[in-house]
Amino acid sequence: KKNLVIVGGGSTYTLGIIMSLIEEKETLPLRKLTFYDTDHARQEKIAKATEVILREKYPELEEFKYTTDMETAFTDIDVAFLQIRTGGLKMREQDEQIPLRHGILGQETCGPGGMAYGMRSIPDMIELIKDIRTYSEDAWIMNYTNPAAIVAEALKREFPEDRRVLNICDMPIAIMKSYADMLDKDVWDLVPGYFGLNHFGWFTKIEDKLGQDYTEVIKDKIVNEGFIPTDSEIANDASWQATFATARKMLMDFPEYLPNTYLQYYFYPEDMARKEDPDNTRARQVIGGRQKRVHETCDKITGSQSLEGVELTGDIHGAYMIRAAASLIHHLNHIYIVMVKNDGIISNIPEDAMVEVPAMLTKDGPKPFAVGEIPAFYKGLIENQYAYEKLVVDAYYEQSYMKMLQALTLNRTVTDVNMAKAVLDDLIEANRGYWPEL
Ligand code: G6P
Repeated sequence: KKNLVIVGGGSTYTLGIIMSLIEEKETLPLRKLTFYDTDHARQEKIAKATEVILREKYPELEEFKYTTDMETAFTDIDVAFLQIRTGGLKMREQDEQIPLRHGILGQETCGPGGMAYGMRSIPDMIELIKDIRTYSEDAWIMNYTNPAAIVAEALKREFPEDRRVLNICDMPIAIMKSYADMLDKDVWDLVPGYFGLNHFGWFTKIEDKLGQDYTEVIKDKIVNEGFIPTDSEIANDASWQATFATARKMLMDFPEYLPNTYLQYYFYPEDMARKEDPDNTRARQVIGGRQKRVHETCDKITGSQSLEGVELTGDIHGAYMIRAAASLIHHLNHIYIVMVKNDGIISNIPEDAMVEVPAMLTKDGPKPFAVGEIPAFYKGLIENQYAYEKLVVDAYYEQSYMKMLQALTLNRTVTDVNMAKAVLDDLIEANRGYWPEL
């Protein structure tokens, strides 16, 4: 039985993860669960409800606690889930609104918003990993903190020898869940071919474990019948429905591979910017939607000290992290799409890029499969995007305005240097106290 700490316990995703931990208790049996957060009140709301849930649904768990003290949180742990958001949803809203004021799309991980969020996240993530390592040298660190691409690039540089930090994102599995439901199959029976960077990749193939290839069936179904998100957390969300509909359009424009939905921001940046309402960006929708719903659920559970009348289920996001952690801890050698240093996996792009590819998760870490050469279009896109990611991290270490400007100029959502400068200057202003001095 293992000890798990969730860092960012106050997240609106935590309850879903708790339900997944319960549903997956045989995959990753726990002895102790700890929440850690820097925001006591925010975490306590989730933790008080979690106490009730665990009492009812996970009586085997020996210990549950929540804390803002690092030593208490990080001592004697086997695995850590990292899901922090530096600056909270308030700064997410800034990341989304500032570019929009300049006519550029506003998104938390793509474009100037993603860059701003990356610059805020890097120092906290570096500190956090050092702190965890102070108390638990060998714990597996499952990091899905956004913007994952930039965070992963920075962690690769800061901790090149630490083989127990795994950068992992749930978007590929969330997309695969929709494929699976479309095929009436179990998502865990699908085996993907995939390459790219985080939030910037393509499925080349979807097979089942017997080797039956469903790629063309999926493409036909998406084109002819539409593409909808089916996982519980995103299924009824209008914004995610629109995103999946755009993924169908991308597939029709470039039918070669099945795109990650995040490519919409790079392929149709003008449409995306036009569609957004600066007074109601995603942050606001999350605050008034998921956060409100989660907090109300917590109040109800805590108030009645029971789960009566409450509908809660796990989601694919939590199940993915738990199963991937179990594969590492128990050397199950299962295949998951994760971020790793390229080192020739995609043979015609830079060796040092953090690529997102399928890998076998073993007790010695991820063992990625070779992708080989990729066609010119994808190579060009990925090299451009990786140069952007690398420049952001360079800019962080070198405190360089010019590198930030170069990064934004390269980003497909910006390209115009005058616009890049204007948005950068506003982001610098809004992020004082978070970013290093440039
Ligand atoms: C997906 C992505 C995550 C992202 C999340 C945002 O799960 O893979 O990287 O954090 O969507 O969702 P939200 O509902 O907060 O906009």
